Amino acid sequence: MKIAVSGKGGVGKTTLVLLLARYFRDRGTGVILVDADPDGNLAAGLGLDPASVVPISAMKELIAERTGARPGTSGGFFKLNPRVDDLPDTVAIKKDGIRLLVMGTVRRGGGGCICPESALAKALLLHLVLERDDVVIMDMEAGIEHLGRGTARAVDMMIVVVEPGRRSVETANRVRALAADIGLTKIAVVGNKVRDEGDEKFLREAMPGFVFLGFIPFSEAVIQADIGDGGFSLADSPVTAAADEIAKRLIEIDPGTQT
Ligand SMILES: Nc1ncnc2c1ncn2[C@@H]1O[C@H](COP(=O)(O)OP(=O)(O)OP(=O)(O)O)[C@@H](O)[C@H]1O
Ligand SMILES: [Mg+2]
Repeated sequence: MKIAVSGKGGVGKTTLVLLLARYFRDRGTGVILVDADPDGNLAAGLGLDPASVVPISAMKELIAERTGARPGTSGGFFKLNPRVDDLPDTVAIKKDGIRLLVMGTVRRGGGGCICPESALAKALLLHLVLERDDVVIMDMEAGIEHLGRGTARAVDMMIVVVEPGRRSVETANRVRALAADIGLTKIAVVGNKVRDEGDEKFLREAMPGFVFLGFIPFSEAVIQADIGDGGFSLADSPVTAAADEIAKRLIEIDPGTQT
């Protein structure tokens, strides 16, 4: 199963990614997380020291070796299909049975230009969604344009996280439009930080035509986990129970996933 998670800033994308990762890991499935948010914090969420994490976009030697060109250059010649199949083993950070790939800030070439670092990032994402047996979960910013068409088409589900309120709903509508532009139509919503049935009702009514995978309650435990050592200290809370239901719905929708 290949999942992309998007939504407005602060709605709980990273929290959901961590909760789903825990679910699949605990059932023996290989899990690869991709931090595709240039301002991402998945590493911290896994309890890693963010200062110790080098994003792939900053691995200049690797980019040069694989593409034949230095990052930061453009207009020259470089490989558009660099070798990447070893990277989930060599550059991924392993923590608690989960692998993490941090993409970093991938410069988008203006005027149709493609840069060496974006060629490597694109090839890596495509490899992950097409050729891996692992569950791959991508933590994305609300702008998803840098998902290439090939990658977008191979994504089994784009989850848009929303919270009770108009602003994150507007972002969800925008994400759906952007996703459709690149051929990604399998979209579902998770309502997060839901305090009561009124919140749930608000979201359902504000988002007609969206499939809801489920709702995660507002919880002090999530905030405590964020202050503490990351999202994995939430065992047996209403939040993990809700996330487990969401994971099960994902499997129902995509029964090909072995757990
Ligand atoms: N269910 C919840 N109940 C209470 N607080 C929550 C819940 N989910 C997330 N939060 C809190 O909201 C904040 C943002 O969560 P998170 O980092 O997961 O969002 P994000 O969408 O990844 O944000 P960003 O856009 O900055 O990457 C964090 O402080 C987190 O602890
Ligand atoms: Mg985040």
